[in-house]
Amino acid sequence: MSSKTAARASKAEADLQSELRPGQSIELLKELHILTREGRLNQDSRRKLKQVYHLFRFIEKLLCELPGEGAQATLADHGAGKSYLGFIIYDLFFNQRGGGHVYGIETRAELVDRSRALAARLGFERMSFLNLTVAESASATELPARIDIVTALHACDTATDDAIAFGLAKEASFMVLVPCCQAEIAACLRQTKALALSRTPLAELWRHPLHTREIGSQLTNVLRCLYLEANGYQVTVTELVGWEHSMKNELIIARHTGQRKASAATRLRELLAQFGLESLLATRFRLP
Ligand SMILES: C[S@@+](CC[C@H](N)C(=O)[O-])C[C@H]1O[C@@H](n2cnc3c(N)ncnc32)[C@H](O)[C@@H]1O
Repeated sequence: MSSKTAARASKAEADLQSELRPGQSIELLKELHILTREGRLNQDSRRKLKQVYHLFRFIEKLLCELPGEGAQATLADHGAGKSYLGFIIYDLFFNQRGGGHVYGIETRAELVDRSRALAARLGFERMSFLNLTVAESASATELPARIDIVTALHACDTATDDAIAFGLAKEASFMVLVPCCQAEIAACLRQTKALALSRTPLAELWRHPLHTREIGSQLTNVLRCLYLEANGYQVTVTELVGWEHSMKNELIIARHTGQRKASAATRLRELLAQFGLESLLATRFRLP
């Protein structure tokens, strides 16, 4: 090896070490395609790693607030996909503490099988992957009665709403939600559009189909936040990553306080009435 090549290789190694956390599994990062097969970071994977750490740091702080600093915590990740979030949390947090359990809920059987195989290969014993819908998982016997943290990262459409219902049923201390596109409310707005336009100039906000979708998505997250507040959660809404990485980067963090906010329930009812969405009170937003 020439001295130039050797210098380049040692710089790459130093670079990599500066990005990694102590004890972190290199094999996991390769499996998640965050590191190349040769164990290197490229520009794309460096960005991916940054995003994963960014989200992990939010969750790590919440875990540390739990009894025993979260060492025995349970976490359910909904719409897990390849479960990279669950794997990273396990690797960086639970693995070194020797306790806790991560559940990945995913409807695509092949992804569940892959995650099970990867967990077995890595010896991550306290990870379970369930081939269930989020809605089904709320009553599944494979899950405990209580779950400390619920995560749902870009879980499709109404899966985020189901994750909220799951979190309420499991009395979760925290919910960490990054919603994906949601079509349910836009569809309701579409159905009642003519009536809304005759009733209020505000309906101009969703007259054009593109605006129906956009306002439907915005309204959905606003309603979700009010619903969480009405159910005893304090809610923070922030950005997950810069806009350049994803258009869907709204991060909703809900912290259980047990104080149900009556004003949030009132606002939720009022908003649903304003937008002609009262029917959702019987299905999506069952207020206490
Ligand atoms: C956009 S991917 C996100 C995957 C992962 N959370 C991530 O951020 O990389 C959404 C995943 O949710 C799954 N999914 C969609 N609806 C679901 C549901 N109702 N219950 C469980 N999983 C669902 C899909 O199969 C898909 O793997």
